[in-house]
Amino acid sequence: MTPIEQDRGSWGSKAGFIIAAAGSAIGLGNIWRFPYVAGQNGGAAFVLIYIIFVVLIGLPVMITELAIGRHTKKNPWGAFELLFPKSVWRFVGGLGIFTGIGILSFYAVIAGFTLGYFFKIIKGDFSSIASGDQAAAIFTAFTANPYLAISLLVAFILITGLIVAGGVSAGIERWSKILMPILFVLLIVLAIRSITLEGASKGLEFYLKPDISKINPGVLARALGQALFSLSLGMGAMITYGSYISRKDNLVTSAASVVFFDTIIAILAGLVMFPALFAMGLDPAGGAGLVFVVLPSIFAKMPGGILFGAGIFLLLAVAALTSTISLLEVPVSYFVDEKKWPRKKAVIWMSVAAFVMGLPSAVSLGASDGLSKLPLVGFGFLDLMNAIFGNYSLSIGSLLIAVFAGYKWGAKVVIAEIQKEGVAFQLKHVWTFLIRFVCPVAIAIIFVYIIVTGNYF
Ligand code: PFF
Repeated sequence: MTPIEQDRGSWGSKAGFIIAAAGSAIGLGNIWRFPYVAGQNGGAAFVLIYIIFVVLIGLPVMITELAIGRHTKKNPWGAFELLFPKSVWRFVGGLGIFTGIGILSFYAVIAGFTLGYFFKIIKGDFSSIASGDQAAAIFTAFTANPYLAISLLVAFILITGLIVAGGVSAGIERWSKILMPILFVLLIVLAIRSITLEGASKGLEFYLKPDISKINPGVLARALGQALFSLSLGMGAMITYGSYISRKDNLVTSAASVVFFDTIIAILAGLVMFPALFAMGLDPAGGAGLVFVVLPSIFAKMPGGILFGAGIFLLLAVAALTSTISLLEVPVSYFVDEKKWPRKKAVIWMSVAAFVMGLPSAVSLGASDGLSKLPLVGFGFLDLMNAIFGNYSLSIGSLLIAVFAGYKWGAKVVIAEIQKEGVAFQLKHVWTFLIRFVCPVAIAIIFVYIIVTGNYF
C-alpha cells in the first residue's frame, strides 16, 4: 500500500458502510430542515412530492454515485478525471467539492446551535416556559448573541476536523453505530408525546392530508432540493463514501437501506413537530428556528423534560456531526488524492474555509437588519446559502450526474459495476429508465418552471 492509499482508508464492513452513509444522510436535514421547509411549503402536499422524489430521483442517483465512487476509488473530481481525463465532467466534481464547503459553512452554524441548546436545557432555561411564544423569545435572544454563535461554529468545525483528521473507518463508524439507534428511540417517544397533546390533530391533518392545490413550482423545487440534501446527493459525498466500499457489497440494497432509514427519520421528525406546533398555536411557516422553538415547548410538557431535551439536542448534535464529517471529507479527499496533501493539512485548510464562509451565516439569524434580511431577496444570509448550496447546487449536480451516467459513461458500465462479483441487479431496467429519462427531465423541467415563474426561493 502506498502512503496515499493508506491515507484513504476503507470501511470495516458492509454494515460499517451503511451506518456511515446513513450517518451522512441522517442529520439536521431530517430534523431541522425537513419540518421547517415542509411547514413553509404546504405541509402534506410537500411531504407527498418529497417521497415521490426520494424514490424516483434520490434512490437512482444514490446508486449511481456509489457506483462511480467504488469503480474509481476517488474523490468526485478525481473520479470524473479518471474516467474521462481533461473533460468538462471534472467540473461536476469541482462543483461538488465547493458545494461541500458551502453547505458545511451554514450547517455547522445550526449544528453549533444544537450544541448550545444542549447546555441551555441542562441549565434549566426552559423549565418554566408556559407557551410557544416564550420558547420563541428565548431562541431570538440566543441568536442575537453573535459571539456565542461564532464560538459554537468554531467548536463544531473543530470537532468535525479532529474526527476527519483521524481517518475514515476509525473515526466515523465507531460513533454512528451506537448513537443513531438511540436518536431513533428518542424521536419515537417525542412523537408519542406530541401526538397526544391537546389540539394536536390539526397538526396531523396539516402534515398528513395533502391539499394538492398547494403544489406549485416553488414547492417542487424545494421538495427536490430537500430530497437531495437529506440523502447527501448531488455533490459527490456518496461518490467519496462509495470509494471506500468493497467490491463484494451490494450497492443497490445498501443504497435502499440508507434511503429507507433517512426517510423514516424525516417523517418521524415531522410527527414530532407538527402536532406540537399546532397544539401550541405556533406558525408552521415560522422558518429556520422552528425546531429550536417547538422541541423545548414539548419538553416543558413532559415529565423528565430536561432529560429528554438534553438527550435529543445532544443526539441531534451527534447526527449533525456524522453529516459534517461527510461534508468535510469531500474536499479533504480531493486534496489528499489530487494534490497529495497530508490529510491533516487538508483538514485544517478546509475547516478554515468553512469557518470564514460561515461567519455571515452565524450572525445572520440574530442580526436586527442587514444580514437577517438581504436587500434583493428579502430573507437572511443563512437562508440564501441554504437555498444556493442546499437546493440549487445539489439539484444541478444531480442532473449532471444522471446525464453523465445515463449518456456519457453509459448505463451498461454502471450496471456492470453494480453486478461485480456476481451481485444481482433485478431492477436494472427500471434504474436505467429513471437515470436516463426521469431524473434529468424532471430536474430540468423544475428549473425551467421556476425560472419562468420567478419562484426562486
Ligand atoms: N444529508 C445531510 C442531512 O440531511 O443533514 C446533509 C448533507 C450531508 C448534505 C452531506 C449533503 C452532503 F453531501
